[in-house]
Amino acid sequence: MAFCPILLVALFSLIYGNYIIPIEATHHVYRTLQSSSSDSSNHQPYRTAYHFQPHKNWINDPNGPMRYGGFYHLFYQYNPEGAVWGNIVWAHSVSKDLVNWTPLDHAIHPSQPSDIKGCWSGSATILPGGKPAILYTGINPNNHQVQNIAIPKNISDPLLREWKKSPKNPLMEPTINNKINSSSFRDPTTSWLGKDGYWRVLIGSKINTKGMAIMYKSKNFVNWVEAKHPLHSAEGTGMWECPDFFPVLNKKNTLKIGVDTSMIGDDVKHVLKVSLDDTKHDHYLIGTYETTKDIFVPENGFVDNKFVLRYDYGKYYASKTFFDDGKNRRILLGWVNESSSVADDIKKGWSGIHTIPRTIWLHKSGKQLIQWPVKEIENLRINPVNWPTKVIKGGELIPITGVNSVQADVEISFEVKDFEKAEILDHWIDPQILCSQKGASKKGGVGPFGLLVFASQGLQEYTAVFFRIFKYQHKNLVLMCSDQSRSSLNKDNDMTTYGTFVDVDPLHENLSLRTLIDHSVVESFGGEGRACITARVYPTLAIHDKAKLYAFNNGTSAVKISRLSAWSMKKAKIY
Ligand code: FRU
Repeated sequence: MAFCPILLVALFSLIYGNYIIPIEATHHVYRTLQSSSSDSSNHQPYRTAYHFQPHKNWINDPNGPMRYGGFYHLFYQYNPEGAVWGNIVWAHSVSKDLVNWTPLDHAIHPSQPSDIKGCWSGSATILPGGKPAILYTGINPNNHQVQNIAIPKNISDPLLREWKKSPKNPLMEPTINNKINSSSFRDPTTSWLGKDGYWRVLIGSKINTKGMAIMYKSKNFVNWVEAKHPLHSAEGTGMWECPDFFPVLNKKNTLKIGVDTSMIGDDVKHVLKVSLDDTKHDHYLIGTYETTKDIFVPENGFVDNKFVLRYDYGKYYASKTFFDDGKNRRILLGWVNESSSVADDIKKGWSGIHTIPRTIWLHKSGKQLIQWPVKEIENLRINPVNWPTKVIKGGELIPITGVNSVQADVEISFEVKDFEKAEILDHWIDPQILCSQKGASKKGGVGPFGLLVFASQGLQEYTAVFFRIFKYQHKNLVLMCSDQSRSSLNKDNDMTTYGTFVDVDPLHENLSLRTLIDHSVVESFGGEGRACITARVYPTLAIHDKAKLYAFNNGTSAVKISRLSAWSMKKAKIY
């Protein structure tokens, strides 16, 4: 049984005599733990080897990613003093390949009245002439959220080590007919330039329970005026954090190519992503940006919740994209919170990681995005293991040997020929609930088949990533699950099962799964990037060389493994 995280929080706050105050952001504030120090001599089975994380302490949202001076720049929300949220600054790392990162001094930290209580999320925009500017949310002495600008002190420094803030800060304050609450006004997007010569930026907000992306316009990037109406809004969705708005190409053969945020025209569709504070999920809508009215018209709105798309159906939040003009691609970065208790986070001295950067583009159907780990991550692959095709019978468990099971990249594909035994689904049900009801250990017809990762010798612990095929309205419906319910004997962890349907027709296509395994993260891509699920796990037995990796089939029908390629992964240089 998974523990409810809220209960856990309450439990630990009792233990520590600590108290939690609800704050303006999504994060809990543990007053007495904000500068806790940890036992760094801890033996650390859960530290990741190639997912981004700082040397120690708390990390949340990726901020202001960009390519400048031949480097990728990543900033992120960081607590320099402890492993829980608080004391937030913009930490800064640079990379040549989005895999190995070098930390630099913090780029932006509280120093002006307009950010003295925190430097929260924001984005970078490359202005004409190639000059970067960062818009970010500052927390002023009254705890109000306002928007500020920072620019590099020296643009001839490719590392952009020093940033200066404008004396004109704050540039934007929550005024809109006095309806916007000063605690619901944050996280500016990358700006885009309209044909009329005005820059536009979005700020996440809400009025009552109506979530919205408020738009501001500016000629000079310093004087910003609120637009007459938000770019988009939706009743009942609550606070929109970290909005992101960008074009994707909608032309055959060029789909994978990314375009600059200011690109408009017939060849593109637009994507609006919002991080919903109420659900802690990143949802996106695909649609048209009507430039004459300055509104976004989604093809499917938030109305029918069943079909609202997510970047990732696991633990994943506060993501942000940027256009990589070096490789003409759009890159997506996201934050993955821990699923462990606050007490355990403090003990290990750190909390939070980022996913492997993903290239993101529009699927040829035009109905969803595709995400795939950046090519550069493949440079970490060593010791390949390749299987000839083999049939995996119902009830079979085949060990995948020859790879480091706690630090691996595994690609597996299944060919299904016989659908007769597929279980019938007579009414639509939320896929996550379906995955929880029909976990890996529940025998099925066609599936569950997939991977068992972080499995202990006697299978007391394992995490299962798998497919299960149903017949729904006379068609095959593919369910993808990441089942953490047996991932750890330590029941203090959140072991929620995740799931989604994948838009693949297994009659005409093999079912592919790629899973990036990294000590405490299981990041999975189903249907060649059509569905992603990221999970955090903390096995107690299946650690180091005790962890095992298997392909399994717990259905009654046999399926064919048409491909298995697996690699051990080298450690990335991250700090
Ligand atoms: C999202 C978020 C943002 C805010 C930041 C504070 O995780 O709550 O809305 O700017 O984190 O760290």
